[in-house]
Amino acid sequence: MTKEDVAKLRAEIENSLAHAKSIEDLNSIKVKYLGKKGFLTNILKSLKELPLEERRELGSLLNQIKDELEKALKVKEREILLAEEDGITDLDLSLPGREPELGALHPLTIVISEICSLFERLGFEIAEGPEVESDFYNFTALNIPEWHPARDMQATFYLENGALLRTHTSPIQVRTMLRKKPPLRIIAPGKVYRCDADVRHSPMFHQIEGLMVDEKVRFSDLKGILTYFAQNIFGEDTKIRFRPSYFPFTEPSVEMDISCVICKGEGCRVCSQTGWLEILGAGMVHPEVFRAVGYDPSRWQGFAFGLGVERIAMIKYGIDDIRLFFDNHLYFLSSFK
Ligand code: FA5
Repeated sequence: MTKEDVAKLRAEIENSLAHAKSIEDLNSIKVKYLGKKGFLTNILKSLKELPLEERRELGSLLNQIKDELEKALKVKEREILLAEEDGITDLDLSLPGREPELGALHPLTIVISEICSLFERLGFEIAEGPEVESDFYNFTALNIPEWHPARDMQATFYLENGALLRTHTSPIQVRTMLRKKPPLRIIAPGKVYRCDADVRHSPMFHQIEGLMVDEKVRFSDLKGILTYFAQNIFGEDTKIRFRPSYFPFTEPSVEMDISCVICKGEGCRVCSQTGWLEILGAGMVHPEVFRAVGYDPSRWQGFAFGLGVERIAMIKYGIDDIRLFFDNHLYFLSSFK
């Protein structure tokens, strides 16, 4: 028997195993090759007549085939018995299993945890508050009395008992200051609600509020911390600028822009040719807010800021429609794996 004959024999056995559909088929293969007068048994016996070298080589090849066949018969038998039990006709246990698909964090969760951990490293503590708020925390204590026109900019959803869905995370400032004595530093993420809907505005969105109160907090501290934040999130070469703005709960108030991440300030479609992208509102805590929570405004100073998480994520990942965050299409979500 030559080596080619051995290869042919192996192929022949594999072929008959592949076609075996029943225990009877397996038995006849067993008898044909491994039985007392079986093919393999006979050849192995006849090896004695060969010279030592040849006997060793062929013997080891044939014994290997014999072992493989014995194992394959056992596996195949299990397959057939299992398939008979389940009524399955085409079971192949050698196929790889189905890998469980791993999920991924939502892009907004990624951005929230990135921003919060950055501020935690600067000594800010995470704070939270309820999404269903009272008028006092959401407006009045933030120096927005009932008659104030600033309420129109944050139209929200009211419940029958007069409670409302918070329009921003700023009520967490009030709740924290009523609970704690200064000095304090908090970073407060959460869902907020407004009657707003287009490609950049959603009726439910996320904000992150920052607040620092101490005896000597200056506007330059606000600027330094927000510069550090912007350069960490958008890249070291990011520039920031402040524009004067108005919030009833801060004085002075600013809007902060970052240099456009696409054109680096040259001017493009994304930044409407201005070279700048607006990302948050901020300012020095208004003395009226300190009075509302019982802090002495002649002793304590503070800064606060509030950013829109969707806006940051849209800039960071180049997303042009806010609704993509909430449609939950897998093709979109899986790109953040
Ligand atoms: C405020 O909500 C202030 N509370 C921020 C603040 C906090 C100022 C502390 C000073 C001190 P404003 O209404 O501008 O500010 O909203 C902040 C950010 O929320 C905006 O820059 C924008 O990115 C985001 N935003 C506002 N409305 C929507 C909306 N409907 N959908 C998605 N994002 C929104």
